[in-house]
Amino acid sequence: IKIATIIGARPQFIKAAAVSRAIIKKNDSLPLSEKIIEIIIHTGQHYDENMSGIFFSELKIPEPDYNLNIGSGSHGEQTGRMMAEVENVLIQEKPDFIIVYGDTNSTLAASLAAVKLHIPSVHVESGLRSHNRLMPEEINRIVTDEISNFLFCPTITAVENLAKDGIGSEEKINLIYNFNRQHVFLVGDVMYDSILFNVKLAEQKSKILMDKAIDSGDYLLATLHRAENTDDPEKLKQVLVAFDKMVSQGEKIIFPMHPRTKKYINDLELSYKIKTPGPDSNIRIIDPVGYLDMLMLEKNAKAVFTDSGGVQKEAFLLGVPCITLRDETEWVETVQAGWNILTGADSEKILRAYSVMAESDKQSAPFSEFLNEDVSGNNSKSDCYGDGHAAEKIIDIMLKIFNK
Ligand code: UD1
Ligand code: UDP
Repeated sequence: IKIATIIGARPQFIKAAAVSRAIIKKNDSLPLSEKIIEIIIHTGQHYDENMSGIFFSELKIPEPDYNLNIGSGSHGEQTGRMMAEVENVLIQEKPDFIIVYGDTNSTLAASLAAVKLHIPSVHVESGLRSHNRLMPEEINRIVTDEISNFLFCPTITAVENLAKDGIGSEEKINLIYNFNRQHVFLVGDVMYDSILFNVKLAEQKSKILMDKAIDSGDYLLATLHRAENTDDPEKLKQVLVAFDKMVSQGEKIIFPMHPRTKKYINDLELSYKIKTPGPDSNIRIIDPVGYLDMLMLEKNAKAVFTDSGGVQKEAFLLGVPCITLRDETEWVETVQAGWNILTGADSEKILRAYSVMAESDKQSAPFSEFLNEDVSGNNSKSDCYGDGHAAEKIIDIMLKIFNK
């Protein structure tokens, strides 16, 4: 069996690492003639060393067989160029199926290229919805789910979202070439597999707390990169004002800054707060870090402020309160458990959530008082994201289907 994995952005490297590891493990038990061949196609959507290369080396992902070097651009330009280049590779390689992850322009381009070549596609992290079509990722998800053959969902909510769109139901029969229906599977979250596999390694290898001279439990961690926040100067400012206020109250904030955010802050001359901090400042803007360092920063933070999907989930799974700088989330389980709260980019709401978190009892869910229903608020929260073997399940299911 020949699989083409198509990835391009930071979170996809982390997700694909779990599946590549499962493929390598499976191959150990297969006779030579049945071994799985994985071709890795990197679209080049992310290209800085600390947005791409570091994840391949740290997570031992096999080197990409192809790097399409597409780079940055407008949505149409970037997606279109990726589609054309992915198509060339797929025609040459003729994989049995492709695997795409999540909701980036790389996901959309690859699944569109494959469906038009009648190559079956697997969508990992299928069924996620924010129900906000102004978000570029929401469009990528809807289209990718619609045209994929094998949809692997991380949560029950994701399966339900697909059902609402009629995916996996009778109406779709015969609409998909090759396999005459869409197949939906609930396998859990490959990012949970990744955390479980890497958290001990992170503890052994990461020196980030020492390098940054910070103590466990003595800082807040922030990330920000969502277009709705970075591209709107008012929202960006609201977030920075809230951060500034917390720092003035004595908090330290570690802020590994996404290049997109750096660009907008510089462009919009919002750098007044950002340029001034010196090495002793309490707001530390640092370059994006590798995954092991990030896990350490998350695990030891007092709380996380983020608009990232992956970071919300990691905070939850690591038992750290999360304040989400968005108006909606795809990872509703984290909110339902009382460990995540949505504040949007509203400085007042961010500061209120911060006060609630700061006053909460560390052992229980910090935001449960905001929920209508009764929540247990205990720490047995990982089961909604599977059992840590999602990647192995995906490979086993695909082998069963393709070996028939
Ligand atoms: C993309 C995804 C988003 C995902 C995020 C993960 C889309 C539409 N968005 O957003 O869903 O959450 O990746 O991080 O696919 N840049 C660099 N160096 C890099 C990469 C980007 O400087 O290595 C800068 C460029 O100025 C670029 C900007 O960041 O224009 C945005 O990059 P892009 O890949 O278009 O989108 P992200 O915001 O990274
Ligand atoms: N991440 C990282 N270094 C950083 C910031 C994030 O390794 O400096 C990891 C993070 O731990 C998570 C993933 O990148 O696994 C999330 O990616 P990102 O926030 O870029 O995208 P999203 O999940 O929102 O699509």
